Amino acid sequence: MKGTVSNSQKSRRKFMQTSAAVAGGVMVSPLAIASNPHVNVDNTIKIALIGCGGRGSGAANEALNTGDDVRLVAMADAFQEKLDSSYKNLLKIHGEKVTVKEDHKFIGLDGYKDAIGLADVVFLATPPGFRPIHFEEAVKQNKHVFMEKPVATDVPGIRKIIENAKLAKEKNLKVVVGHHLRFQKSCIDIVHQLQDGIIGDIVNMQAYFNSSGVWVRDRKPGMTEMEYQVWNWYYFNWLCGDHIVEQHVHDLDLMNWIKGSHPIKAQGMGGRQVRTDNKYGQIFDHHFVEYQYPDGTMLNSQCRHQKGCWNNWSDGGHGTKGSFNCIPGRQLSHIYDSKGNVIWKYIGKDDTEPHQVEQTEFFRMLRQDEYINQAESGAASTMTAIMGRMATYSGQEITWDEAMNSTKNLMPKEFSWNAEPPVKPDDNGAYPIPTPGSYDIM
Ligand SMILES: NC(=O)c1ccc[n+]([C@@H]2O[C@H](COP(=O)([O-])OP(=O)(O)OC[C@H]3O[C@@H](n4cnc5c(N)ncnc54)[C@H](O)[C@@H]3O)[C@@H](O)[C@H]2O)c1
Repeated sequence: MKGTVSNSQKSRRKFMQTSAAVAGGVMVSPLAIASNPHVNVDNTIKIALIGCGGRGSGAANEALNTGDDVRLVAMADAFQEKLDSSYKNLLKIHGEKVTVKEDHKFIGLDGYKDAIGLADVVFLATPPGFRPIHFEEAVKQNKHVFMEKPVATDVPGIRKIIENAKLAKEKNLKVVVGHHLRFQKSCIDIVHQLQDGIIGDIVNMQAYFNSSGVWVRDRKPGMTEMEYQVWNWYYFNWLCGDHIVEQHVHDLDLMNWIKGSHPIKAQGMGGRQVRTDNKYGQIFDHHFVEYQYPDGTMLNSQCRHQKGCWNNWSDGGHGTKGSFNCIPGRQLSHIYDSKGNVIWKYIGKDDTEPHQVEQTEFFRMLRQDEYINQAESGAASTMTAIMGRMATYSGQEITWDEAMNSTKNLMPKEFSWNAEPPVKPDDNGAYPIPTPGSYDIM
């Protein structure tokens, strides 16, 4: 109605002020807001994309889909070709919503700071090793954050995420972590059914992420060792965390969500039996972990990257009165009674793609000033995966408290193409591979 301000306009104004004006927890005056060059006085929500690969570009696309008021204003990537191809594709799809000036495209390992400064909301989608540093910077610069899972590759990184999750809360900064299953109806509804006790108490669970593996990127002539590792990041633990952390974390997050807690200990086994070439760096190709939750519930977790084997991405378990099964990739969930009869099901084959729902919800919350901060639960799920990796690498039983005390920092001391990476190949081009029985997790 003319002359009145709607609730959504009011809360939108509040978001604009929060994103721009929170400085050390102090709200600054509207005049100061207007004089800040990074404030969206034009009523747009400006996003910066840090890590312009497959998922970052996908998430930016989904964010731009959420409304005419979203603009992509800055991009940063380690490699020119990655940024260029992402920019070209996003420009083709979204036209004038992509307003990234040439001097707002940042190449290299330190461009993230400038890119973050130009936005209201930052998208962190580099390899996960960088996530804690990038999240810290985004919170320092008072930005709302969408960050992909996993949120770290080592325990010092997890501690940094937790510290900054708290700071983000104090500053009223909203944070979504890319656990898109938390925005997928087939998962949301089954979690609610299980938490409401449809099959009594959950007593054991099984999680599988068994596939034939992912891409490998070949070394290019002239690349420094640091450049090569960032390029072929999946196979280096400081960057990726191993596939139990990088991929299986989706299932571990779902299991933690169902239980409303995280495991207190883990033991397991794993190795590298098929994927042994030097181009596969140092990660394992299979992990099997037995986790225990505080109430005694056991979770058996499998993840495998081996071709020609049984592939399965699903999560299930048993309760005192029945069982459940959830197939996230097919948006399918079933609950059975103790005789095996289906007592509840969700078939979401026509549902909107959950990565889109994730951004649609995030941007609705930003516009309506509805608070969300998934950084701590994201940290707990990544930590669950790291604890599993500690168990398979060491061959020992590890408790949560022991794992959380680890000071093993996987990251390099310096970030530049000529700096020393934390792992180096030997004379035969082979990288150090963790050996159960002698691997030191601390
Ligand atoms: N939620 C999901 O369904 C889902 C799906 C795929 C990937 N992911 C996650 O998204 C993240 C990225 O995965 P991806 O598949 O897009 O990988 P990718 O290799 O396609 O993209 C990563 C990009 O980050 C860039 N990069 C590396 N280091 C950087 C740095 N320091 N600063 C700026 N840019 C840097 C790389 O050059 C690359 O372009 C990972 O954490 C992955 O686990 C999530």
